[in-house]
Amino acid sequence: MPAHPDIRVAPVHAALRPALLQLAVHETQQPFVSPIAVTLADAELCGGSEAMAILCDGAPIGFYRIETQPGCIADRDFPRPTLGLRSFFIDARWQRRGLATLALTALVDDLLQRHPAAHDLALTVNTRNTAGIALYRRAGFVDTGELYHGGRSGPQHLMVRALAP
Ligand SMILES: CC(C)(COP(=O)(O)OP(=O)(O)OC[C@H]1O[C@@H](n2cnc3c(N)ncnc32)[C@H](O)[C@@H]1OP(=O)(O)O)[C@@H](O)C(=O)NCCC(=O)NCCS
Repeated sequence: MPAHPDIRVAPVHAALRPALLQLAVHETQQPFVSPIAVTLADAELCGGSEAMAILCDGAPIGFYRIETQPGCIADRDFPRPTLGLRSFFIDARWQRRGLATLALTALVDDLLQRHPAAHDLALTVNTRNTAGIALYRRAGFVDTGELYHGGRSGPQHLMVRALAP
């Protein structure tokens, strides 16, 4: 991997799908994100769901969804215009190289361009997901102190980050 990998994000399109479908997390991480085939199919069915690829030097290494109706993140309303971040992952072969951190920076820059009216970005992360919680804290997300109990793998923290600089 080059010393300064070029990490970008892009809406999923047909040409990216075969490589995206090869991506997976470690077995121990599977409770925290659905398999990408399931998530991609679900995103295509859900209005307001944007399937996004994380690219390293042009090749897919990760994935996430942006929800324009954030109520589906935690079954609640948000006081300010808010987007939801869901299903964020880096493929197991590419983890622990700082790429999720770079991807979150690219993700926020992309949202500022494409969703300038949004004030906040919200997500839920399983209370057992220490790597995810550490990553999101370092990226400026703040734990609201609220627990969401709707997930398939136990309670989740609701975290929010302001988008505007
Ligand atoms: C969470 C995840 C996206 C991190 O990706 P990554 O590219 O390995 O993360 P980075 O290399 O950018 O690491 C950023 C920080 O995250 C934390 N982190 C990442 N992996 C970690 C691990 N295995 N254990 C503890 N902390 C970890 C650390 O604080 C790390 O900073 P550091 O390396 O300076 O200590 C990745 O582990 C993943 O895809 N997990 C499975 C899916 C998931 O849990 N997604 C979140 C759903 S809400």
